[in-house]
Formats: sequence, structure tokens, C-alpha cells
Amino acid sequence: EGVSSISLRVNGTARTIQAEPRVTLLDALREYLDLTGSKKGCDHGQCGACTVLVDGRRVNSCLTLAVMTQGKEITTIEGLAKGEELHPMQAAFLKHDGFQCGYCTPGQIMSGVACVKEGHAGSADEVREWMSGNICRCSAYPNITAAILEAKG
Ligand code: FES
Repeated sequence: EGVSSISLRVNGTARTIQAEPRVTLLDALREYLDLTGSKKGCDHGQCGACTVLVDGRRVNSCLTLAVMTQGKEITTIEGLAKGEELHPMQAAFLKHDGFQCGYCTPGQIMSGVACVKEGHAGSADEVREWMSGNICRCSAYPNITAAILEAKG
């Protein structure tokens, strides 16, 4: 009882899951679609590890119900690279060592992509402000900021 079809468009592909309406987008991605790049750090909107793009805008997927994203384009970390070619933000994170343990990295990168796309990468201060919802326990912040400024070009 209560299970319904939820149609999602993820990284350019139409996917349908059978799930209860209370299932979050994060759980839909990780548990139902096997897209485990988006991470569950807190499940409460406080760490940013679950950040994905919905119609190009970043969201905390742990705070978003999957049903709310039907008809929208969802982009996850798995959707950024084109075959072997990394997205410029991924390449910049590599170049600047924008991670240590890597757990927060998918969320950092998705937030970084939105930062540049939405025009919030004008200065290091602006980047830090935009990225303040993405927590890094290893404290790689200076490198993350440098990577985003580089990817902005
Ligand atoms: Fe969503 Fe922490 S897991 S913000």
C-alpha cells in the first residue's frame, strides 16, 4: 500500500521507480537507481554531501521528495563527465587537490558547478559564501575555492 510509480529524468535518461511518496530524491538515487555518487552525510540539510542539480539549480536531495522532481531534469555527479572527458569542475578539483577523503566531493562539485553557472564565482569571498552549505571535515576549503575559481575560467 502507498507505493506508486515515480518517473524521474536523471542525467538525460528517463527512469521509473516504484516507491512510496515519502522517499527522498537522495534515497531514490542511491537505493532505487544505484547512483551512489551523491552521499548521505547528515540526511538533514546540514552538510551538502547530497547536493544535485534539479533543472540546473542546486538542491539538497535529502530534503527533496523524489515525487517533487517529476518532469524535471536531475543531474548528479555521475552525469558530469562526457565519457572519458571530465567536466571542467572535476578536472579543476583534481588539479587543485580539492578533496582529501572525498566523501563530500560529489556535493562540493555539484555546488561548484551551480556556483559558476549562476554567476557566484566572482571572487574567493563570493565562492566561500556560496559554498558555505557544503561542509568538508578534512577542511580542504582553500583548495576547493581555488578549484572553483579555476573552473570559472
Ligand atoms: Fe543532505 Fe547532508 S545529506 S545535506
